[in-house]
Amino acid sequence: MHVGMNITLTKPFILRYFLLSLILSLPFFLFLFLHLFSPPQQYHRYATTPYNNNLRIRPGYSSYDAYIQRQLNKTLNPRLRKIWTTRDWNRKIPVFARFFEDLKGKKLLHTSSKALCVGARVGQEVEALRRVGVSDSVGMDLVPYPPLVVHGDFHDQPFENSTFDFEFSNVFDHALYPERFVAEIERTLKPHGVCVLHVALARRADKYSANDLYSVEPLVGLFKRSVLVHVRGVNGFGLDTEVAFRKNTSR
Ligand SMILES: C[S@@+](CC[C@H](N)C(=O)[O-])C[C@H]1O[C@@H](n2cnc3c(N)ncnc32)[C@H](O)[C@@H]1O
Ligand SMILES: *[C@@H]1O[C@H](CO)[C@@H](O)[C@H](O)[C@H]1NC(C)=O
Ligand SMILES: *[C@@H]1O[C@H](CO)[C@@H](O)[C@H](O)[C@H]1NC(C)=O
Repeated sequence: MHVGMNITLTKPFILRYFLLSLILSLPFFLFLFLHLFSPPQQYHRYATTPYNNNLRIRPGYSSYDAYIQRQLNKTLNPRLRKIWTTRDWNRKIPVFARFFEDLKGKKLLHTSSKALCVGARVGQEVEALRRVGVSDSVGMDLVPYPPLVVHGDFHDQPFENSTFDFEFSNVFDHALYPERFVAEIERTLKPHGVCVLHVALARRADKYSANDLYSVEPLVGLFKRSVLVHVRGVNGFGLDTEVAFRKNTSR
């Protein structure tokens, strides 16, 4: 009788201590949970290192040559080249021309600018530049299309340092080495030169893309020698965002 009474007395006593220790250890478990299960991008979002979860290189290229061959495979396709230079020609040039007119209005592009279009394919964007009065403009692509487009790899541009006042590109997603893509643009831009990129953030670019971009932050990190001028929505052939940079005066 005496023993049994003792047991019934200690039962709620143990429970109370158990609950108390549980409450006291709650901050510890919360801390553990946050560190183990939160996505890593949360820690790198504001980091200056270019690579985080918002810029991912697509796996599957066995070599640089395999990457180039894959790009060429589409760009050299005779049936597609026919379409790009006929049906697409008059459909796309006015759209590019509007983008460039707009940039002229914002004083980021001038008729006197020496301009380059990176990854220009058959040069629709170059033709558009010329039509809005930027006569000293040229395109560059793995496949040349004279006289509008010269041959070159954007990972190793065939131009001297400080050559252009303005560079436009809507092919950032095709870069296997995004840091090279950007470093080459910054190298060939003059001090104070402007780079305008059209990128896809909301949707995935095509199956020939080599990377996927999910926010502008990785781009800002890559443009080490420039300042961000603006970010705005555009409707550019599946590309939804325009990002403009201006190269610094020094270095
Ligand atoms: C989606 S197309 C864009 C064509 C053009 N800018 C337009 O809007 O009509 C991508 C282009 O990037 C080119 N390209 C891909 N990798 C390249 C590289 N490493 N260097 C230069 N051009 C490249 C391809 O040959 C192709 O013409
Ligand atoms: C290029 O395209 C052809 C068909 O058009 C295909 O047979 C070949 O495997 C492709 N090569 C590459 C490297 O994608
Ligand atoms: C061109 O620029 C790169 C880096 O931007 C630099 O390393 C190189 O020395 C420069 N070349 C010349 C000839 O100035």
